[in-house]
Amino acid sequence: MHMTMIGPETRNPAFSSPTKDPFRVRRLAPIRSRVRRHRPAHRATERRRPLSCPETFSPLPSSPWRFLWMFVRERFLGRAILLNLAAAGGIGLMGMEPVAMRGLVDALAGISGAGLSGNQPSGSPAWTAEVMRWFLLLGGLWIASALFNRLRELVDLHTSPALRHAIQVRLFDHLIDHSPRYFQDNFAGNLGQKVKQAGQSAIQILEILTNDIIRIVVILAIGLTLLASAQTLFAVLLVGWTAAHLTLSALLARRCLRLSHAFSEEVSSTTGRMVDVIANAELVRAFARRRQELSGLSDALTGEIDRSKELRWFLTKMWFWLFNALLVFQITLIGIAVSEATAGRMSVGDFAMVFSLASIVGTNVWGLSTRMLGFFEQLGILSGALELIVRPHEIPDPPGRPDLAVTAGAIRFEDVRFAHPGGGAVFDGLSLTIRPGERVALVGPSGAGKSTLVRLLRRQFPVQGGRILIDSQDIAQVSLASLNRAVAEVPQLPSLFHRSIRDNIAYGSEGASDDAIRAAAARAHCDRFIEGRASGYDTVVGERGIQLSGGERQRVAIARAFLKDAPVLVLDEATSSLDSETEHLIQDALLGLFEGRTVIAIAHRLSTVTGMDRILYMEAGRILEDGDHATLLRRDGPYARLWRRQVGGFLPDDAGATSLEEVR
Ligand SMILES: Nc1ncnc2c1ncn2[C@@H]1O[C@H](COP(=O)(O)OP(=O)(O)OP(=O)(O)O)[C@@H](O)[C@H]1O
Ligand SMILES: [Mg+2]
Repeated sequence: MHMTMIGPETRNPAFSSPTKDPFRVRRLAPIRSRVRRHRPAHRATERRRPLSCPETFSPLPSSPWRFLWMFVRERFLGRAILLNLAAAGGIGLMGMEPVAMRGLVDALAGISGAGLSGNQPSGSPAWTAEVMRWFLLLGGLWIASALFNRLRELVDLHTSPALRHAIQVRLFDHLIDHSPRYFQDNFAGNLGQKVKQAGQSAIQILEILTNDIIRIVVILAIGLTLLASAQTLFAVLLVGWTAAHLTLSALLARRCLRLSHAFSEEVSSTTGRMVDVIANAELVRAFARRRQELSGLSDALTGEIDRSKELRWFLTKMWFWLFNALLVFQITLIGIAVSEATAGRMSVGDFAMVFSLASIVGTNVWGLSTRMLGFFEQLGILSGALELIVRPHEIPDPPGRPDLAVTAGAIRFEDVRFAHPGGGAVFDGLSLTIRPGERVALVGPSGAGKSTLVRLLRRQFPVQGGRILIDSQDIAQVSLASLNRAVAEVPQLPSLFHRSIRDNIAYGSEGASDDAIRAAAARAHCDRFIEGRASGYDTVVGERGIQLSGGERQRVAIARAFLKDAPVLVLDEATSSLDSETEHLIQDALLGLFEGRTVIAIAHRLSTVTGMDRILYMEAGRILEDGDHATLLRRDGPYARLWRRQVGGFLPDDAGATSLEEVR
């Protein structure tokens, strides 16, 4: 009986039920929105889970124990205590079962007068008051124990999912503030998986701590008392065996953990390889490399097979020895009890009690030793996730920094030095002053450092020397959020969320009205293609906007920048994917947007920047020329050569050059 009652308690329905996962709801939302056109995805999901999130959280510890304790102490201490009490109550009552069993068996033996031989004299009353009492006690214990266990599940229902939610939110909060380089170095899918895994392993560790361990402690205490009351030898056996069994389990589990890590490393590496191929499926087809990719993957998977076999073989051996040790313990205990009973030193009831206890203790110790492997594994997963996510931010943004106050929009680079790690210097003492409201174009060959310059302006990489000032405030000393609010950027390769077009444009301004979104879309000349789609503004654009053309993506990004309405505007090849006609229309719209703002526009197509106040010609991180279009043409330097080459009127001086690269 105890076997069936204990078994289900290690399961927690809240962990596995897919319908309880809020992320599942979110993932389904865009799909649903395609079906129900009049209920946009963003509204449906917002209603489902209103999330209250403070502006800042306290710092996260990177050690798994301190990490877990922080969450439990802050929000779940009461519930964790209740979980322990309920588990202790459930197993404590279960531990009394052998006592009731002894009473019942002794009472039955008294009736029969022949022990358990079954020679009951006919006519004697079957249910004496004593039998009834023990029987009711036994049934009552089972029912009460089950109630405690259900209570534990009820408390857990309000603990584990909430804890997982809290952990995911906090880790995500820390993760999202990492530098762009961090996201370049780590796969997005892997990072997302680590956040999920951390939440999951935290609740599994907590379950082991608040359930399995407390059960063992309580059952051992009860078992020890009861066995000692029957015979001291039993108690000594119990203590010795349990200690040996659990120590051995812990040692083996640690070794097993190493094998399991090796296996999961292999799995991560093959998953990464597979994801890379899936992401480039078009390329595989284009170069007809299906067979090669397949055999490459198959080779990589053999490593996974080897690691898996090693792990499984070790587990098989481990379970074999541990289970045999359990059998030896139970057989020894019961053997001694049989010989004691036959020698008349123990009643039949005592025998039943020892039998029942051996079974309950054995089941629980076995349960814990099997859970121990999972425990170490989850601990490993949690510390791996924390190691990756909870590292200090490369670009620190401590709370309490003043906000950037943009009054005019003057930008100044002072002797800026910067190199990408492992690369040569991009800027070695770059100085540049841009006056408020000035419209500056940045031109030059590929790799000159144009994009890097504007990325430094948003502190996306930390500079190694010098300063960058906006309105005389060092951007390294102001809050990152205020800096990013002040600068609107349309990047070289604009990225969009896998959300509706409406949501993507509205990202420029929190709480933007539908009218404002449509007006921004119209100014960026997106309205026609959006309205041409069956779902209009509710069209979900695919991962990174893949379901839009390059030019459409750029126009959505421009609409987003229109809506952001920031005092400094950065355009990095913002119209490079557009046809000349649309580019011309957008240039007009952009001129309107330039009014009253400081603008830095990077362009390869020089015809788009002739009207700018200043053109900076940059090469290898240095500004070689600075002036308006007419001045630079008169100077007849590298800009003029580039211009002539593009308009095709004249051959450049180095007449053999055939590309921009060669012109420089
Ligand atoms: N994340 C990075 N890590 C390492 N090196 C980088 C990184 N990003 C850019 N670089 C290098 O820095 C240099 C400047 O790159 P940048 O992107 O600023 O050039 P660009 O002038 O914008 O070129 P393009 O016109 O092709 O966009 C290049 O040599 C490039 O290889
Ligand atoms: Mg660039």
